[in-house]
Amino acid sequence: MQHPELAAEVARRRTFAIISHPDAGKTTLTEKLLLYGGAIRQAGSVKARKAARHATSDWMEIEKQRGISVTSSAMQFDYNNYRINILDTPGHQDFSEDTYRTLVAADSAVMLIDNAKGVEEQTIKLFKVCRLRSIPIFTFINKMDRTGRDPFELMEDIEQVLGIRSCPVNWPIGIHGDFKGVYHRDTRLIELYSGGDHGQGQVNVETISIDDPGCPAKIGQSYYDKLIEDIELLDVAGDEFDLDKILSGQLTPMFFGSATNNFGVEPFLNRFLSYTKSPTPRVAEEVGPIDPADEKFTGFVFKIQANMNPAHRDRLAFMRVCSGVFEKGMTVWHSSTNSRVKLAQPQTFMAQEHETVETAYPGDIIGLFDPGIFRLGDTICTGSPVRYSGIPLFAPEFFCRVSPEDSMKRKQFLKGISQLSQEGAIQTFKRPNIGREEMIAGVVGVLQMDVLEYRLKGEYGVNITRENLPFRFVRWIVETPKPIDRLRLTSTTAIAEDRVGRPVLMFENEWSIRLAGENNEGLVLAETADRMTADEME
Ligand code: G4P
Repeated sequence: MQHPELAAEVARRRTFAIISHPDAGKTTLTEKLLLYGGAIRQAGSVKARKAARHATSDWMEIEKQRGISVTSSAMQFDYNNYRINILDTPGHQDFSEDTYRTLVAADSAVMLIDNAKGVEEQTIKLFKVCRLRSIPIFTFINKMDRTGRDPFELMEDIEQVLGIRSCPVNWPIGIHGDFKGVYHRDTRLIELYSGGDHGQGQVNVETISIDDPGCPAKIGQSYYDKLIEDIELLDVAGDEFDLDKILSGQLTPMFFGSATNNFGVEPFLNRFLSYTKSPTPRVAEEVGPIDPADEKFTGFVFKIQANMNPAHRDRLAFMRVCSGVFEKGMTVWHSSTNSRVKLAQPQTFMAQEHETVETAYPGDIIGLFDPGIFRLGDTICTGSPVRYSGIPLFAPEFFCRVSPEDSMKRKQFLKGISQLSQEGAIQTFKRPNIGREEMIAGVVGVLQMDVLEYRLKGEYGVNITRENLPFRFVRWIVETPKPIDRLRLTSTTAIAEDRVGRPVLMFENEWSIRLAGENNEGLVLAETADRMTADEME
């Protein structure tokens, strides 16, 4: 069936994630964006949801009561004829491998930085995943109403820590606790900050041209002089605005503002939407790139959310539409079962309510009720089968030795561990030298360990004991100059293998990783690996 509206629907879609360290203001910014889109009348609802999932134990309770809805969020809204999908990247205690996987479904990222803190740990991790995919990254420096670091210093921080050049699109005036506003380099207009408004609604902002003779008096002569000086320096020594470099992820455009005060958010949003791309072709194995406007429907599963309520074993598979039109009830080919399935009961995700979706277009995220057939990275499509390359495994950072409390339950334990690792809830490792009985669970976020314990008990009837291991990094061995047991490694480094028997090294610190490289010329280590099933290895 022809869909005359397909190309236009693709063109107006923008699908992105906000990457940041906890407390940088992601929840606040998300709310303001939703507010502009009219998706929520009053800011506060996203925040309420965040508060609801704050503590670990609470989170378990909430998951139990509400089933699978709480952490499963992608938000969709319309703004100026754009259709925007914001992917949620859980950041506090619920930071997990899913946070990374979600980024695989995004076309671009907004990197939110607290002006007083600069680039922080979690931002670095998320940035690396965006970098792997070369997606455009837009920087928003937040909390400009408060005392923070010098903007030049923040630019340097981004370059030094993340290795990406930045290009300020606007520039702050009068920081150090006396914030006057921002100067837009593209329009030569200054937006004046009036403060005080803790922005529930949208605010009208006064603007003045930098060329207006009244400008120095308006912002203060010394701030005006400083601004002229800063702009000259940026023009001469800074990177030029280059959209090709931005779109290929080599340069990050930088914006300054204050999310709580609703200042600088709308100018940012407008520029972000016009610079960033609508969904681009994704590469399918053997077939090559598939245009989103292709009539053939394709999509892939990037996250599977299990229901924490033992009474409801259903799961939700999150799918991103990549090409064509998704229609409720359509029959598609499904890669991991190599069979045709009917997609009933799909859901889309709004700010507050889940709605049933009838039609979805490339860039949209939908949740599919999963009777247990979907796996991470699965492709579904109409017509002849195609496969998108899978979602990689991301290096875990917390490791526990796990075993069943009751050794009679070892069989159920192994079955549960195997299924949960196949589903992507955890990864497993073994150290060949330690004996066959050892089972190491590795996770990106500590809460995943609680989920493991909870689900093994609830779904497999197994209580486990956990013993923390001191490792913080795992690296897959891609190439080794000599047999692995003859590598020169620090005494705290362990040799292990992943679930499908691929060799890995487990490290306690970054220093040991560096030494492994320096002492073993030709050793190639990777932070991600292909997700493979045991069958595929044979
Ligand atoms: P997160 O989702 O990234 O973790 O951050 P969140 O939006 O919850 O913001 C973290 C804290 O930073 C909140 O303060 C929030 O109000 C504040 N914040 C966010 N944007 C700005 C900004 O532009 N300027 C200033 N000054 N503060 C900002 P809180 O005290 O934790 O919560 P609340 O009491 O304000 O609700």
